[in-house]
Amino acid sequence: MSVGRRVGGLCVLTAAWLLPGAFAGCGGSDFVAPPGDTTTPPPPTPLRTLAAARGRYVGAATGGTFQRADATGTTLRSLLAREFSMVWSGNFLKFSTLRPSAGEYQFQWADSMVAFAEAHQMAVRGHVFVWHNQNPTWLTGGSWTSAQVDSILQDHITTVMSRYRGRIRLWDVVNEPFDDDAVLRTTFWSTSLGPDYIERAFRLARAADTTAVLFYVDYNIEGRSAKADATYNLIGSLLARGVPIHGIAMQGHFQVGRLPSAEDLAWNFARFAALGLKIQITELDIRMTLPVTAEKLAQQATDYRTIFTACLVTSACDAIELAGVYDGDSWVPSTFPGEGSALLWDASFAAKPAYTSVSNLLAGN
Ligand code: XIL
Repeated sequence: MSVGRRVGGLCVLTAAWLLPGAFAGCGGSDFVAPPGDTTTPPPPTPLRTLAAARGRYVGAATGGTFQRADATGTTLRSLLAREFSMVWSGNFLKFSTLRPSAGEYQFQWADSMVAFAEAHQMAVRGHVFVWHNQNPTWLTGGSWTSAQVDSILQDHITTVMSRYRGRIRLWDVVNEPFDDDAVLRTTFWSTSLGPDYIERAFRLARAADTTAVLFYVDYNIEGRSAKADATYNLIGSLLARGVPIHGIAMQGHFQVGRLPSAEDLAWNFARFAALGLKIQITELDIRMTLPVTAEKLAQQATDYRTIFTACLVTSACDAIELAGVYDGDSWVPSTFPGEGSALLWDASFAAKPAYTSVSNLLAGN
């Protein structure tokens, strides 16, 4: 399929495999200076336009601010639509959000996110089916047979994927199966379904929507590490058995100044690509110990550039997605006390040095 994208002010055609128009940078506002005005600088070219010219999607999480009806919500949504070509569903499609009780599906926020994405020619990542967190207690606290849990999961995956078939093309199927010591976690899913639960989840997803791109997701697997090795070995053996895994999503939760080296990132990305997988950086954020200083912001700008570069040098890496748009809506401060300022725009929606750094990199500067 061919869709429009803007390069150097011209709308040109490019191939896109995800969503008609999702690669488009042509939806952004056209700047026209007032007659005679030679002083007003044009706004920067949106990241989505620059990323499209490099054959990449650039995405962000929806977050709680997406749901707000006030001016902050309006600002967030317009920034999201202007700068990004992909949205990630954040909490909207997690089991506990969708299924507060057994017989109930709460689709309203996911529906509104998908409609928003379509209105702004954005691809959508759906997140997540099998994860050890954010599951409802009616599920994890119930006493089920293995067959019953299998049937609940099948019903869940089939219902959700069928509803969004053709609209959500990218799905996070299994999230964070390894713990921080590279040992497979014992979870509700592994205990209920047995050691083949990962394979089962991917096969159910494949059966529910044969057109979807199915991702295995984890964190701390971006560079060289025991966890990256364990993940590589597990996925390799699953693929050898024909399990339908199409991509690896690396969450990219980093601390300023503590990234894997560019060489290690490129080496690790290359070995996953050699398995035939797509690679996407998802949930990217690079947090710092507060207070914010100019030095930390400068290091953060360098660090963002390192991660975006790792994707740009890997042809299988076609998307980089942030864990949020701005520091006013980030999971970091409540999860890592004393840390924050992890995203590209600050809590007042001012672009940070990291934004300029990413923008320059994508522009080839
Ligand atoms: C986070 C959300 O952003 C928070 O709002 C929520 O309270 C906790 O979960 N890895 C994941 C994400 O896969 O789903 C998590 O999201 C962050 C870590």
